[in-house]
Formats: sequence, C-alpha cells, structure tokens
Amino acid sequence: MQRVVLISGASRGIGLASAVRLARGGWAVVGLSRSTDGDAALREAGALPLSADVTDVTSMQRAFQTIAAQHGRLDAVIANAGAGLVGCFEDLDDAQIRALFEVNVFGVLALTRLALPALRASQGRVVVISSVAGRLAAPSSSAYAASKFAVEGWAEALRHELAPFRVPVVLIEPGATRTDFFRARARGTRVGTGAYASLSARLLALQDAQSTKGVDPDVVARSIERALVDPAPPLRVPTGAGTRAQLLARRLLPWRVYEGLLRLALRLPEP
Ligand SMILES: NC(=O)c1ccc[n+]([C@@H]2O[C@H](COP(=O)([O-])OP(=O)(O)OC[C@H]3O[C@@H](n4cnc5c(N)ncnc54)[C@H](OP(=O)(O)O)[C@@H]3O)[C@@H](O)[C@H]2O)c1
Repeated sequence: MQRVVLISGASRGIGLASAVRLARGGWAVVGLSRSTDGDAALREAGALPLSADVTDVTSMQRAFQTIAAQHGRLDAVIANAGAGLVGCFEDLDDAQIRALFEVNVFGVLALTRLALPALRASQGRVVVISSVAGRLAAPSSSAYAASKFAVEGWAEALRHELAPFRVPVVLIEPGATRTDFFRARARGTRVGTGAYASLSARLLALQDAQSTKGVDPDVVARSIERALVDPAPPLRVPTGAGTRAQLLARRLLPWRVYEGLLRLALRLPEP
C-alpha cells in the first residue's frame, strides 16, 4: 500500500525539494500551491500538483476531495507554505502583518484541521515547517518571528492532543536555506525611511548576504523525510548549518551575554 503525503507550498523551494525526494522514495505525493510554476517538476517526479491557496479554505477543501477520490487515505501532511516579511516593527503596517499571519499561521492551522480526520484514521503525521526564527527573534523580523513563534506554541499543544491517537506532530526548524524565499519576501520588505532607516538598511543587507550562505533545500527535505519515517520523532528538528549552535547559545547563555553577542554580530548601535 502506497503512503500518501500532502505538501503545501510545493511549487518551489523546500516544498518542491521535499515533494521530489518523497515521490522518488515511493510516497504518493500531492503538492499544493497557488501558481503552476512547479507543476512540470512535480509531474516529472511522479507527484500530483493541485492548485490551492492556504488562505482560501474552499480551495483546500477541493484539494482534499481530490485526494479522497484518488487515494482514499492520507498518511502525512507537511504544512510548508509560508512567506516572509522584513522591516522594523514601526515601519510595518497592520495589514502586512495580518496578511503574513494568514499564510504562516492561519493557513497552517486550516490545512492541518482539514487533514486531521484522515490522519487520525491512518495514524499519520503532521510536519510543520517552522524556522529557527520560531525560537530566536532577530531585529527586523518581529512579524515573521511572531508568526513562527505562534506556530511553535500551537504545534507543541497539538502534539499533546494527538499523542493518544498516535499522530506525531513535528516542527522542522530550518536556518537560512537557498530558495526564492528571500526574493519573494523582498516584495513586502520595508527598508524604513524614518528613525529606523540606517538600522533597517544594514539589517536587510546582512540578511541578504546570509541568504546566499544558506543550505540547499534538499538538506531540509532530508530532515522532513526522516521526520516521516522516524519511529519516535522529536517535537523539534533544527536543520541546517549552525542552527543547533545558535539555539544552544540562546538556551545556555545568560540573556545579557546572548544579547551582547547578537548586538556585536549584527553591529547594532549601543543603547
Ligand atoms: N528559505 C529559508 O531560509 C527558510 C528558513 C526557515 C524557514 N523557512 C520556511 O520554509 C517554508 C518554505 O519556504 P521556502 O524557502 O521554500 O520559500 P519559497 O521558495 O518562497 O516557497 C514558498 C512556497 O509557498 C507557497 N505559498 C506561498 N503562499 C501560499 C499560499 N497562500 N497558498 C499556497 N501556497 C503558498 C509558494 O507557492 P505559490 O507562490 O505558487 O503559491 C511556494 O511554493 C516557509 O514556511 C518558510 O517560512 C524558510
């Protein structure tokens, strides 16, 4: 019996790399996204691309009807679709932050809600693509970090709720990964014109430099694949170069030391 996995945000980046890896590994893969950019690559790997927007429940219900008709089961959902937003908090407006939460938080919740009846029946898995920013918040990422912190808290509670049903919930926490994420994010970025102008410009340049140093998306895809087959997967899976070290530093160092080191690394002005 072929196991069935549904991946949101499968048209490029981490979602596409995961879809291709899992399809080649024998999974029946269904990939959701708004655009058709990844359709050819998905089909070539043997995956089924479906059009759906995670902020539009009706479009996702249609996708679930297709899965039920074609496969009659679901063994895993990978809530991966996500967006970024950069800018110091005062430079961002509420509409931008709400739009980000619609995708990164409410989109993840809505997709998982639709998948859960089938996952409880199959004793399947929920894999949520969070971020190292779900546990470490850097300046100019307040909105993005808030969205990922929200998802981390939700997933931790959900893991307890689903344990009696033998449905593990796993958070994948990538660090910088070489995808179009940074280019897509740039569309909403506020560089800042007022009090935060020079700080924002410097932070943005640092983040752009970091984006080219990220790991290949297949590194994250491998962590996702392991989370699907590990007999006892952990709640959190930090992934990518330096991610574990950053999280360890945040956990072990006294706050003032950590804050001072971050300020030095980011060359933030002294208060
Ligand atoms: N890249 C990184 O450095 C990094 C680091 C940590 C965590 N992450 C997380 O990893 C996940 C994937 O990011 P990525 O780097 O692969 O980004 P990406 O290359 O920009 O891909 C994002 C994917 O999400 C889809 N998407 C966006 N909004 C959607 C919506 N409303 N409905 C359905 N699909 C939607 C996009 O497809 P369409 O535009 O075709 O809909 C695309 O397939 C995100 O949750 C991100 O926060 C990324």
